[in-house]
Order: sequence, then C-alpha cells, then structure tokens
Amino acid sequence: MSRAAARRTQVGIVGAGPAGLFLSLLLHRRGVESVILEARSREAIEQTIRAGIVEQATLDLMAELGVGARARREGVAHRGTNLRFLGRSHRIDFARLTGGRVATLYPQHEVLKDLIAARLAQGGEILFGCKALAIEDVQGTHPVIRFAGTDGAAGALRCEAVVGADGFYGVCRTAIPEEKRTEYVRTYPFGWFGILCRAPVSSEELIYTRHARGFALISSRSPDVQRMYFQCDPEDDADRWTEAAIWEELQARLAGADGFRLKEGPVFHRNIVAMRSFVCEPMQHGRLFLAGDAAHIVPPTGAKGLNLAASDAWHLDRALGAFFADGSAAALEGYSAAALRRVWRAQHFSWWMTSMLHRFADASPFDERRQLAELEFVTGNESAARGLAETYVGEPFG
Ligand code: DHB
Repeated sequence: MSRAAARRTQVGIVGAGPAGLFLSLLLHRRGVESVILEARSREAIEQTIRAGIVEQATLDLMAELGVGARARREGVAHRGTNLRFLGRSHRIDFARLTGGRVATLYPQHEVLKDLIAARLAQGGEILFGCKALAIEDVQGTHPVIRFAGTDGAAGALRCEAVVGADGFYGVCRTAIPEEKRTEYVRTYPFGWFGILCRAPVSSEELIYTRHARGFALISSRSPDVQRMYFQCDPEDDADRWTEAAIWEELQARLAGADGFRLKEGPVFHRNIVAMRSFVCEPMQHGRLFLAGDAAHIVPPTGAKGLNLAASDAWHLDRALGAFFADGSAAALEGYSAAALRRVWRAQHFSWWMTSMLHRFADASPFDERRQLAELEFVTGNESAARGLAETYVGEPFG
C-alpha cells in the first residue's frame, strides 16, 4: 500500500489488551479518535485465561466509563486475604486496614469482554487479525504503523501518536532505539502451574501459601469453578502431570494442623507461566508511547498486571488529552515519569510478595528463617499488614 493510501487517525493503538482498550475508551470520552490494531481474533482474546484481581481504582475507572455494570454484579468483593505458612492461615483484613477498600475478583478476560463490547458499541474500530509489523517516523509528527491485514495484505495507519500496547513480545518497544531505552529485568527460577477445575469453593478468600515444597495460591472463578496455582519448574511440561499428582501436590502445600483440605474436582485447564519482573524506561520515544506489558511485566503474585495497564491508560489519556487540546508537548513528555511511579511501586510489591512466599532452591537455612520472620511480621504487625493491604487493594490513580 502506498503512503498516500494510508488510513489516518489521531491515535493508533497496537494491541486490544487492557491498556489499549481502556485508552481507546478514555480518548473517545474526550473526543479523540483512535483505531486499535490487534493481531489475534476477538474470540482468542476473550478466552485467554489470566489473573483475576481488579483494584478499586480499576473498578472505579470501569464504572466511570460506563462499562462497570457486569463487574459490579458478577465480581466478588474480597474484604481480605490469607497468608498461610507453617500450616496456619493468617488473615489480612483489607477493609479494616484501608478504610473500607477491597479487591474484586473479576477475571481479566471478563474485563476485556466488557471493554471490547463497549468500544464496538461506540462505533470504535478494533481491527482484529491485523498484525503490526513496524512503526515508522516516531520522531516526526505523523508516525505510521505498518501492518498485515486479515488477508495478509499490507496496510498502513498514519497517526499523530502511536501507542504500543502490544505486550512483552510486541514490535513497538523495539521501535525505540536500543541506546534510548534501559531495560531492567529479573527472572525467577520458577514458574506457576495453573489449573481450572470443576469443584466447589475451598476458601471464600484467596490463600497465598508458603510451604517447604513451594508456593501455592487458591483462588476462584465461580461457585463451581476454581483457579489454583503452585510453584513449579518453568521448564516443566504441564501435560506430564496426572490429576492425582496435581491434587497431591496442592494438598501437601496447603496441609496443616488445622486440618485444611482443598475440595477436589476434574481439572479442565492447565498451563505453566514463567515469572519475570521487567521495566523499560522511558515508556516514550518521540510520538511513540508504551503502555501495559509492552513496557513492564510483573510476576503474577498479587495480580498487578491488569491494574498497571489501566493506570498507564489513565496517565496516557491525560497526556494525549492535553496534547490534542492545546498542542502541549510538555504533557506528552511527562507521561513516562508519571506512569513509572506506580509501575515501580507495583514492581516492588510483586517482587516482595514473590520473594516472601516462594521457595528458592539456593536459600540457606538462614534465608528460610528470615522468610518466616517476615511473614510473622507482616501478619502480626498492624502497620506492616496495612502496608500490604494498601498496595494490594491499590491507591487511586494519579
Ligand atoms: C489470581 C491470580 C493472581 O496472580 C493473584 O495474585 C490472585 C488471583 C487469579 O487468577 O485468580
């Protein structure tokens, strides 16, 4: 396609994940036009299993955008969570410690269904099956996204700003020259084995457990579908495990003097996710802006990924809004620093929760005793518990 034939929009967004969708809805509210290019199909996006915790600020943003009705109806407010170690559960009371704030269990793919439906109902364009190949002229005033359309035909979208919300493996981040970005990385020597099973709820609130055999997390999806995870070798093959072996491992990690037992049922989905902490700074280069996983990854412990994507979209909407209102380049320049404050807070939190609760193969007996002392402190000391609770439920954006 020739340059003259390129389609035009104000903001070209690569990726219909939470960052891209929240942003397009926010921009629409301001009267700023956007087009989303998404490599995958709508069905694939709406069915990919991800984490399940929505912060208060994210839920408030959904309500503000008029897309919060189903989350309010079907989401389950969690007024607390459990940290379990040495065979005993210790409750962190979010509502009491944070002045009434809670975390809501509402899976990410349900959030995406709501955002996609709302954006399409507005007449918004989400071009599914269109894979971005390259971002050109990011230093100019009209960057161009080159993409392959559903039929494989070459396409181009000419924009005033490009938003890379295309995930960790997307092309947008690499459009920032290597010498202009710094990438901070920490990989963990373990992964999470996740299952979905058809079984009754084992615990009304989540259980994060530290055990000599490794971490486990008990979560839920509905009264008869449960989500559970256990720390594993990231190179392991999920299909190698029999259901009996999965349950034996989970039961062993949750066992304790209180006699707690998980309610078992048929496992109908399983996957292994690798764990990494990652930040790319800055999150901007010229007229290219990164948002969500394209700019940062957190390990899943504490479920901050979706919420960080929403926070990035919130900051970027303000920056782009100021720019399109009065041409303010200063607002655009401020985006990265503004978004990164919450990103690094969440990085610390996710790393800390991961470090406190997982088994590290190279841990010395001292490390293990120190880990337990930390858990005793965070569950036994009101101020420490409040620190955890406040970050878990999340501060308001901005
Ligand atoms: C879920 C995932 C998480 O990583 C977490 O911290 C809490 C809940 C979940 O999938 O339900």
